[in-house]
Amino acid sequence: MDRWVGKVAVVTGASAGIGVSIVKELVDRGMVVVGLARRVETVEELAKTLSDRKGKLYAVKADVCKEEDVAEAFDWVRKNLGIIHVLVNNAGYAPYTFIANLQREQYSKIKLCFDTNVVGVIMCTNEALKLMREKGIDDGHIVNINSVSGHYIKQKPGFYVYNASKHSLRVITEGLRRELLEAKSMIRVSSISPGYVPTEIRVAGEVPNLDKYVADMPAITADDVTASVIHALAAPPEVQIAEIIVRPVGSVF
Ligand SMILES: NC(=O)c1ccc[n+]([C@@H]2O[C@H](COP(=O)([O-])OP(=O)(O)OC[C@H]3O[C@@H](n4cnc5c(N)ncnc54)[C@H](OP(=O)(O)O)[C@@H]3O)[C@@H](O)[C@H]2O)c1
Repeated sequence: MDRWVGKVAVVTGASAGIGVSIVKELVDRGMVVVGLARRVETVEELAKTLSDRKGKLYAVKADVCKEEDVAEAFDWVRKNLGIIHVLVNNAGYAPYTFIANLQREQYSKIKLCFDTNVVGVIMCTNEALKLMREKGIDDGHIVNINSVSGHYIKQKPGFYVYNASKHSLRVITEGLRRELLEAKSMIRVSSISPGYVPTEIRVAGEVPNLDKYVADMPAITADDVTASVIHALAAPPEVQIAEIIVRPVGSVF
């Protein structure tokens, strides 16, 4: 990771769960990190707790679903830090919802799921690559936090829409790799696909009887996911860690 010391990373979804763990580790390893989230005050609090670490965390408010927020966030990076080397697309939304029996009021959840997990990733990636190109960065790295839901279809109904968004993200990630290949770029693309991590995501997704829902699910921690992000980033520049699936031992899904 030595080559990333002092380099700039943008991490989306920096206010909770896996994003917090990634941010802490990158700051510990000396990176200058810009943490994006709607709850910017939470990221600001996190930044204070990391003030004595090797790197630094900046908090920037952004809703990754909003075109203007994404543009403004990357303009902030352009203006204040001048450059970007790493983007971690981590922000995610997993609504508990159905396809066959859905109230009209819930259509917005479906849109939000795709806007967050797919469209937001594309917009942030495009803005990051634009800034990399402007500054002649051709050894940058885009890391997408996907899910086992991007590879397999769950047994239990309730998350097929999330499943679909993460399958879509898998195609987007591979499509990006191929577009960069076509452009003869050395920018690397990695996908990290965790299994169950106990975070706020199921609370935000409004899973009913949450305690019961997760009771028997084997889990890994956010730090376990971060270890895979670090593995991908730390690989030699000519090595592209394309996909890592990080399942809890004992997990069927
Ligand atoms: N936890 C799991 O079991 C699990 C398993 C596989 C994959 N994942 C993936 O891991 C990633 C992180 O999930 P997590 O479990 O850490 O979730 P989490 O605890 O709910 O945190 C989600 C983060 O995403 C941010 N976010 C959500 N919508 C956003 C938006 N529109 N704009 C900006 N930020 C937004 C949230 O910040 P604000 O609310 O402050 O905006 C928060 O920081 C997601 O991509 C998720 O799909 C999680």
